[in-house]
Amino acid sequence: MRIQVLPDFVEAIALELHRRLMVGGNFCFPTGRTMDPVYARLVELNQQTPVDPSRINAFMVDEYEGLPATDPRCYNAYLRERVLGPLGLVERFYPMNEATYEALIQEKGGIDLQLLGLGLNGHIGFNEPGSSFASRTRRVAIAEATRVSNAPLFASLAEVPTHAVSIGIATIMDAKEVWVLASGASKAAIVAKLRETAVTEELPASVLKRHPKAMLYMDRAASLN
Ligand code: GLP
Repeated sequence: MRIQVLPDFVEAIALELHRRLMVGGNFCFPTGRTMDPVYARLVELNQQTPVDPSRINAFMVDEYEGLPATDPRCYNAYLRERVLGPLGLVERFYPMNEATYEALIQEKGGIDLQLLGLGLNGHIGFNEPGSSFASRTRRVAIAEATRVSNAPLFASLAEVPTHAVSIGIATIMDAKEVWVLASGASKAAIVAKLRETAVTEELPASVLKRHPKAMLYMDRAASLN
Protein backbone atom coordinates (compact mmCIF):
# COMPACT_ATOMS: atom_id res chain seq x y z
CA MET A 1 0.00 0.00 0.00
CA ARG A 2 1.46 3.31 -1.01
CA ILE A 3 0.63 6.44 0.95
CA GLN A 4 0.16 9.92 -0.40
CA VAL A 5 -0.72 13.13 1.40
CA LEU A 6 -2.71 15.45 -0.84
CA PRO A 7 -2.91 19.08 0.33
CA ASP A 8 -5.74 19.57 -2.18
CA PHE A 9 -7.32 16.24 -1.27
CA VAL A 10 -10.88 16.84 -2.53
CA GLU A 11 -9.83 18.38 -5.83
CA ALA A 12 -7.14 15.80 -6.53
CA ILE A 13 -9.35 12.80 -5.77
CA ALA A 14 -12.34 14.20 -7.66
CA LEU A 15 -10.22 14.97 -10.72
CA GLU A 16 -8.58 11.56 -10.84
CA LEU A 17 -11.88 9.77 -10.16
CA HIS A 18 -13.50 11.74 -12.96
CA ARG A 19 -10.64 10.82 -15.28
CA ARG A 20 -11.05 7.13 -14.42
CA LEU A 21 -14.81 7.29 -14.93
CA MET A 22 -14.26 8.87 -18.35
CA VAL A 23 -12.19 5.80 -19.29
CA GLY A 24 -14.86 3.49 -17.88
CA GLY A 25 -14.86 0.22 -15.97
CA ASN A 26 -16.36 -1.30 -12.85
CA PHE A 27 -16.36 0.97 -9.82
CA CYS A 28 -17.33 0.24 -6.23
CA PHE A 29 -18.48 3.33 -4.35
CA PRO A 30 -18.45 4.06 -0.62
CA THR A 31 -20.55 6.51 1.35
CA GLY A 32 -19.60 8.64 4.32
CA ARG A 33 -18.58 12.13 5.27
CA THR A 34 -15.19 11.74 3.61
CA MET A 35 -16.95 11.24 0.30
CA ASP A 36 -19.42 14.14 0.57
CA PRO A 37 -17.14 16.90 -0.82
CA VAL A 38 -15.46 14.52 -3.26
CA TYR A 39 -18.79 13.54 -4.82
CA ALA A 40 -19.94 17.18 -4.86
CA ARG A 41 -16.83 18.18 -6.81
CA LEU A 42 -17.11 15.13 -9.07
CA VAL A 43 -20.65 16.18 -10.00
CA GLU A 44 -19.37 19.65 -10.93
CA LEU A 45 -16.61 18.17 -13.09
CA ASN A 46 -19.17 15.92 -14.73
CA GLN A 47 -21.31 18.91 -15.64
CA GLN A 48 -18.38 20.24 -17.67
CA THR A 49 -17.39 16.89 -19.15
CA PRO A 50 -19.99 14.12 -18.73
CA VAL A 51 -18.94 10.51 -18.35
CA ASP A 52 -20.39 7.88 -20.68
CA PRO A 53 -22.64 5.68 -18.50
CA SER A 54 -22.54 2.83 -21.01
CA ARG A 55 -18.86 2.34 -20.14
CA ILE A 56 -19.47 2.03 -16.39
CA ASN A 57 -20.86 -0.47 -13.90
CA ALA A 58 -21.41 0.86 -10.39
CA PHE A 59 -21.38 -1.24 -7.22
CA MET A 60 -21.63 -0.23 -3.58
CA VAL A 61 -19.45 -1.11 -0.60
CA ASP A 62 -22.04 -1.64 2.09
CA GLU A 63 -25.62 -1.06 3.14
CA TYR A 64 -27.47 -0.78 6.43
CA GLU A 65 -29.99 -3.45 7.27
CA GLY A 66 -33.56 -2.50 7.94
CA LEU A 67 -33.83 0.93 6.34
CA PRO A 68 -36.26 1.26 3.42
CA ALA A 69 -34.56 2.06 0.09
CA THR A 70 -36.16 5.51 0.17
CA ASP A 71 -34.75 6.43 3.60
CA PRO A 72 -32.17 9.18 2.93
CA ARG A 73 -29.81 7.58 5.46
CA CYS A 74 -29.57 4.29 3.60
CA TYR A 75 -26.51 4.06 1.40
CA ASN A 76 -28.51 3.18 -1.70
CA ALA A 77 -30.36 6.53 -1.42
CA TYR A 78 -27.14 8.38 -0.57
CA LEU A 79 -25.32 7.11 -3.65
CA ARG A 80 -28.27 7.69 -5.99
CA GLU A 81 -28.77 11.22 -4.75
CA ARG A 82 -25.19 12.43 -4.52
CA VAL A 83 -23.34 10.67 -7.28
CA LEU A 84 -25.12 8.05 -9.36
CA GLY A 85 -28.15 10.19 -10.23
CA PRO A 86 -26.16 13.31 -11.17
CA LEU A 87 -23.73 11.23 -13.25
CA GLY A 88 -26.51 9.35 -15.04
CA LEU A 89 -25.44 6.03 -13.56
CA VAL A 90 -28.62 4.87 -11.84
CA GLU A 91 -29.32 2.35 -14.59
CA ARG A 92 -25.73 1.14 -14.39
CA PHE A 93 -25.99 0.62 -10.61
CA TYR A 94 -26.22 -2.72 -8.84
CA PRO A 95 -27.56 -2.15 -5.31
CA MET A 96 -26.31 -4.38 -2.53
CA ASN A 97 -27.64 -7.91 -2.64
CA GLU A 98 -26.23 -10.32 -0.10
CA ALA A 99 -27.09 -13.40 -2.16
CA THR A 100 -25.98 -12.36 -5.63
CA TYR A 101 -23.33 -9.64 -5.27
CA GLU A 102 -20.18 -11.78 -5.50
CA ALA A 103 -21.39 -13.61 -8.62
CA LEU A 104 -22.56 -10.37 -10.18
CA ILE A 105 -19.21 -8.64 -9.64
CA GLN A 106 -17.42 -11.61 -11.19
CA GLU A 107 -19.85 -11.80 -14.09
CA LYS A 108 -19.13 -8.14 -14.91
CA GLY A 109 -15.39 -8.79 -14.90
CA GLY A 110 -14.44 -7.76 -11.36
CA ILE A 111 -13.97 -4.37 -9.71
CA ASP A 112 -11.48 -2.13 -11.51
CA LEU A 113 -11.41 0.63 -8.91
CA GLN A 114 -12.47 0.02 -5.34
CA LEU A 115 -12.99 3.20 -3.32
CA LEU A 116 -13.08 2.99 0.46
CA GLY A 117 -13.47 5.24 3.47
CA LEU A 118 -11.61 4.44 6.66
CA GLY A 119 -13.47 3.83 9.91
CA LEU A 120 -12.14 5.28 13.16
CA ASN A 121 -11.45 1.69 14.28
CA GLY A 122 -9.79 0.76 10.98
CA HIS A 123 -12.84 -0.76 9.35
CA ILE A 124 -13.25 -0.79 5.58
CA GLY A 125 -16.82 -1.08 4.39
CA PHE A 126 -18.54 -2.61 7.38
CA ASN A 127 -15.71 -5.09 7.85
CA GLU A 128 -15.13 -4.40 11.49
CA PRO A 129 -12.03 -5.43 13.50
CA GLY A 130 -11.87 -9.23 13.65
CA SER A 131 -13.39 -9.72 10.19
CA SER A 132 -11.85 -12.66 8.38
CA PHE A 133 -9.54 -11.83 5.50
CA ALA A 134 -11.42 -14.60 3.65
CA SER A 135 -14.76 -12.82 4.05
CA ARG A 136 -17.07 -12.14 1.11
CA THR A 137 -20.33 -10.21 0.83
CA ARG A 138 -22.39 -11.08 3.89
CA ARG A 139 -24.52 -9.83 6.74
CA VAL A 140 -22.40 -8.30 9.52
CA ALA A 141 -22.88 -6.82 12.98
CA ILE A 142 -21.87 -3.16 13.19
CA ALA A 143 -19.35 -2.45 15.96
CA GLU A 144 -20.69 -0.32 18.79
CA ALA A 145 -17.93 2.28 18.21
CA THR A 146 -19.01 2.58 14.59
CA ARG A 147 -22.66 3.00 15.56
CA VAL A 148 -21.59 5.82 17.89
CA SER A 149 -19.47 7.40 15.14
CA ASN A 150 -22.37 7.28 12.68
CA ALA A 151 -25.02 8.36 15.23
CA PRO A 152 -24.84 12.08 14.28
CA LEU A 153 -26.40 11.06 10.97
CA PHE A 154 -29.43 9.69 12.86
CA ALA A 155 -31.80 11.20 15.42
CA SER A 156 -30.33 9.05 18.18
CA LEU A 157 -27.91 6.16 18.73
CA ALA A 158 -30.86 3.80 19.13
CA GLU A 159 -31.88 4.50 15.53
CA VAL A 160 -28.52 3.45 14.06
CA PRO A 161 -28.95 -0.05 12.61
CA THR A 162 -27.14 -2.85 14.41
CA HIS A 163 -26.44 -4.83 11.23
CA ALA A 164 -25.46 -4.25 7.64
CA VAL A 165 -24.49 -6.10 4.49
CA SER A 166 -20.92 -5.44 3.38
CA ILE A 167 -18.64 -6.65 0.65
CA GLY A 168 -15.89 -8.69 2.31
CA ILE A 169 -12.17 -8.31 2.76
CA ALA A 170 -11.54 -10.92 0.05
CA THR A 171 -13.92 -9.03 -2.26
CA ILE A 172 -11.87 -5.88 -1.71
CA MET A 173 -8.56 -7.70 -2.21
CA ASP A 174 -9.82 -9.03 -5.58
CA ALA A 175 -10.23 -5.48 -6.92
CA LYS A 176 -7.59 -4.51 -9.46
CA GLU A 177 -6.93 -1.21 -7.67
CA VAL A 178 -7.98 0.13 -4.28
CA TRP A 179 -8.03 3.67 -2.91
CA VAL A 180 -8.54 4.22 0.81
CA LEU A 181 -9.52 7.81 1.51
CA ALA A 182 -9.06 9.56 4.85
CA SER A 183 -9.59 13.22 5.63
CA GLY A 184 -9.78 15.40 8.70
CA ALA A 185 -8.06 15.41 12.07
CA SER A 186 -10.42 12.76 13.45
CA LYS A 187 -8.70 10.19 11.20
CA ALA A 188 -5.12 11.08 12.22
CA ALA A 189 -4.89 8.50 15.01
CA ILE A 190 -6.15 5.56 12.94
CA VAL A 191 -4.01 6.59 9.97
CA ALA A 192 -0.93 6.63 12.22
CA LYS A 193 -1.86 3.24 13.66
CA LEU A 194 -2.43 1.82 10.19
CA ARG A 195 0.98 3.01 9.04
CA GLU A 196 2.82 1.33 11.90
CA THR A 197 0.75 -1.84 12.38
CA ALA A 198 1.64 -5.18 10.80
CA VAL A 199 -1.10 -6.86 8.78
CA THR A 200 -3.75 -8.11 11.20
CA GLU A 201 -7.45 -8.93 11.16
CA GLU A 202 -7.75 -6.63 14.19
CA LEU A 203 -7.14 -3.68 11.88
CA PRO A 204 -9.03 -4.52 8.69
CA ALA A 205 -7.48 -1.80 6.50
CA SER A 206 -4.01 -3.26 7.20
CA VAL A 207 -4.78 -6.08 4.75
CA LEU A 208 -4.25 -3.56 1.96
CA LYS A 209 -0.51 -3.70 2.67
CA ARG A 210 -0.72 -7.03 0.83
CA HIS A 211 -2.57 -5.59 -2.18
CA PRO A 212 -0.38 -4.96 -5.23
CA LYS A 213 -2.15 -1.74 -6.16
CA ALA A 214 -3.57 -0.07 -3.05
CA MET A 215 -3.23 3.62 -2.22
CA LEU A 216 -3.97 5.44 1.01
CA TYR A 217 -4.81 9.03 0.10
CA MET A 218 -5.25 11.57 2.85
CA ASP A 219 -5.35 15.28 3.47
CA ARG A 220 -2.85 17.08 5.70
CA ALA A 221 -5.08 16.99 8.77
CA ALA A 222 -5.35 13.19 8.63
CA SER A 223 -1.58 12.88 8.18
CA LEU A 224 -0.63 14.83 11.31
CA ASN A 225 -0.29 12.92 14.53
C1 GLP B 1 -18.90 4.05 7.68
C2 GLP B 1 -19.18 3.17 6.45
C3 GLP B 1 -17.98 3.08 5.57
C4 GLP B 1 -17.36 4.45 5.50
C5 GLP B 1 -16.68 4.71 6.80
C6 GLP B 1 -16.08 6.11 6.94
O1 GLP B 1 -19.33 3.46 8.85
N1 GLP B 1 -19.61 1.84 6.74
O2 GLP B 1 -18.33 2.57 4.31
O3 GLP B 1 -16.43 4.48 4.46
O4 GLP B 1 -17.53 4.39 7.88
O5 GLP B 1 -17.08 7.06 7.09
P1 GLP B 1 -16.79 8.62 7.16
O6 GLP B 1 -16.24 9.01 5.81
O7 GLP B 1 -18.10 9.26 7.45
O8 GLP B 1 -15.78 8.84 8.23
